[in-house]
Amino acid sequence: MSDISLNRKFSVAPMLDWTDRHCRYFLRQLSKEALLYTEMVTTGALIFGKGDYLVFNDEEHPVALQLGGSNASDMARCAELAQQRGYDEVNINVGCPSDRVKNGAFGACLMAQPEVVAECVREMQKLVDIPVTVKCRIGIDDMDEYDDFARFIDIVANAGCDTFIVHARKAWLQGLSPKENREIPPLNYPRVYQLKATHPELSISINGGITTIQQMQQHLQHVDGVMVGREAYTNPYLLASVSQTLFGSPLPLPSRAELVNTMQAYIERQTDEWFKPWHVARHMLGLYQGQAGGRIWRRYLSQNGTGKSPDPHLLRNALEQVEQAQANAEKFANTKFG
Ligand SMILES: Cc1cc2nc3c(=O)[nH]c(=O)nc-3n(C[C@H](O)[C@H](O)[C@H](O)COP(=O)(O)O)c2cc1C
Repeated sequence: MSDISLNRKFSVAPMLDWTDRHCRYFLRQLSKEALLYTEMVTTGALIFGKGDYLVFNDEEHPVALQLGGSNASDMARCAELAQQRGYDEVNINVGCPSDRVKNGAFGACLMAQPEVVAECVREMQKLVDIPVTVKCRIGIDDMDEYDDFARFIDIVANAGCDTFIVHARKAWLQGLSPKENREIPPLNYPRVYQLKATHPELSISINGGITTIQQMQQHLQHVDGVMVGREAYTNPYLLASVSQTLFGSPLPLPSRAELVNTMQAYIERQTDEWFKPWHVARHMLGLYQGQAGGRIWRRYLSQNGTGKSPDPHLLRNALEQVEQAQANAEKFANTKFG
């Protein structure tokens, strides 16, 4: 089993429909160190579903499976499946506020039932050696005082969980959509810092609204790790600088063109009959964010990746368009100012 405590310094958040295995393979090309989380997978899907929800590429390590559920024996069974398949960690979702999740009695509503989460932790740890961790909020609804939060953590930590990832805003279970619940309740970073200060023995990662390396470095003065969601997805090249600045990687930054070629080769290796290049390309739309040719890149992928007979050389052809546009822009600048 690998020791992933150092990788926790920076992780990419679990994001439904976004952090699938193709996305994670792509992100891994940008950072060898980042800890990557799967989308949430429910115990129901794993136990009764027909598909293989646990498949991942070997190159994705270190990779954590996020589970949604609250029945301790089901959670334990799924944790065991995760360990057998080679996941490096199994994480319990105590942060997602969607209706579907509330009806299943898991996700953020479990903040009000720490004993249920504690029981899951105990049963899961009986069956697996990989870390069992919890991703939670700082509160829900009117249960939003520090003492409520600390009580939740104490009960779950006493059951044996020593690693928490905290989205630093509470969730409103009534009235706000999941998207609004990621934006409207205010961020409260000091509350997460306070948790670490009073529980130095726990590994605490902070999540929510983090977009720059500088912000990450500031948080890391107070907590053990930062978890980044939307910014890592929409501006993935950020991960390349994370490797250098947070992990001190001596490797040179991979160029965007190199990444595109690596991912084109990955697309060409896929053998699944349902596979389409777009399944990979959709996660790469932000690769040229803020760069000359960024709009051309996104437009080429969207226009040529989705039709009935998609371009098998989609990424390579998009790259050619971007490089052409960049060369033209340079030529124009040289004639204007040269
Ligand atoms: C599209 C999307 C899907 C998400 N799905 C999950 C999920 O499956 N499990 C989970 O714990 N959080 C989920 N989240 C929440 C993120 O993990 C993260 O906590 C949140 O986006 C705040 O971090 P950020 O500001 O860095 O994006 C999702 C967020 C987004 C944008």
